Amino acid sequence: MGSRLIGYGSYLPEHIMTNQDFERVMDTSDEWITTRTGIKQRHFARDDETVADMATIAAQRALDNAGLTIQDIGLIMVATTTPELDFPSVAVQVAGRLGAKNNVPAFDLRGACTGYIYALHCARGFFTAGMHRRIMIIGAEKMTRFIDMSDRSTAVLFGDGAGALIFEHSSSSYSGIIDTVVMSDGGAFDCLHGTPDHKISMNGPETYRRAVQCMPAAARYIMQHAGITSENIDWIIPHQANLRIIHSCAAHLDFPMDKILITVDRHANTSGASGVLALAYAFDNGIIKAGQLVLYPAFGSGLTWGAALIRV
Ligand SMILES: CC(C)(COP(=O)(O)OP(=O)(O)OC[C@H]1O[C@@H](n2cnc3c(N)ncnc32)[C@H](O)[C@@H]1OP(=O)(O)O)[C@@H](O)C(=O)NCCC(=O)NCCS
Repeated sequence: MGSRLIGYGSYLPEHIMTNQDFERVMDTSDEWITTRTGIKQRHFARDDETVADMATIAAQRALDNAGLTIQDIGLIMVATTTPELDFPSVAVQVAGRLGAKNNVPAFDLRGACTGYIYALHCARGFFTAGMHRRIMIIGAEKMTRFIDMSDRSTAVLFGDGAGALIFEHSSSSYSGIIDTVVMSDGGAFDCLHGTPDHKISMNGPETYRRAVQCMPAAARYIMQHAGITSENIDWIIPHQANLRIIHSCAAHLDFPMDKILITVDRHANTSGASGVLALAYAFDNGIIKAGQLVLYPAFGSGLTWGAALIRV
């Protein structure tokens, strides 16, 4: 019992905020941001644009890509940490806006930047149990809701956007979501968390230190569990938080950088949308081809971390 990927879609807000734009509003420089993070630009949502708005567009594009309607979907999961409303879930709003008449189950899950890996983990379990024929996974974030323009150490790191993937049940266990692992350490809460007044509290160096341990560990676990080596993997799509972290993970895994997908330069850190947006970007630009094996390691606030192995 497995799955296969049958559709994808993404949405990035129109407004692009470059490092030069930041230079005009705070004491920072393109040079600092580029050398510390690899980020050159990020997309910022309009004030009136919500996570549900972005998620709905990405979801519709994924349905169009798969040649389906919302009636064909058996479950919607949205990985988000930045919904405007505490209730109802973004997933239910997406279902409603797309005109679902099939009483589709829909819920959000919060795994911060690892959210899309948690969603893939749940989807794998549902497919293995034979519970759903088609599952839509959406990663959607409006990180600008948490950006404090008076804190230059975090403001430059994040961006907004949404991505959606549709998986269908398959009798092959070697396609779609092949394997997943997810973990957490609530003891590391102080590394990175949101505050009640919607700001980001981050111990940058400690978060960095944990990231370069957690992502390679999760990647190694998956390779060992799936009985493969780095030679079998066509692409690694790491969580797009910081280019230096990605370089360090590649070195830990002894994996060549030309097989590591980088979108942090153009999207910055879109948290739960990061990996889904990156895969959509790779498809749109012909970088990753159907049938290739992709390893997806991620980490984020919690701390949470994990990895997924997907044949796309
Ligand atoms: C945030 C991060 C880029 C900072 O890099 P760093 O190498 O630790 O920073 P450095 O020690 O080189 O520099 C810190 C200095 O830069 C300054 N600085 C911080 N942000 C700045 C900015 N945007 N522009 C210019 N200077 C900045 C600080 O005030 C500090 O100055 P000081 O030394 O005078 O006090 C790095 O710690 C990091 O990437 N951590 C992980 C963050 C992350 O990925 N979070 C998301 C996880 S999902």
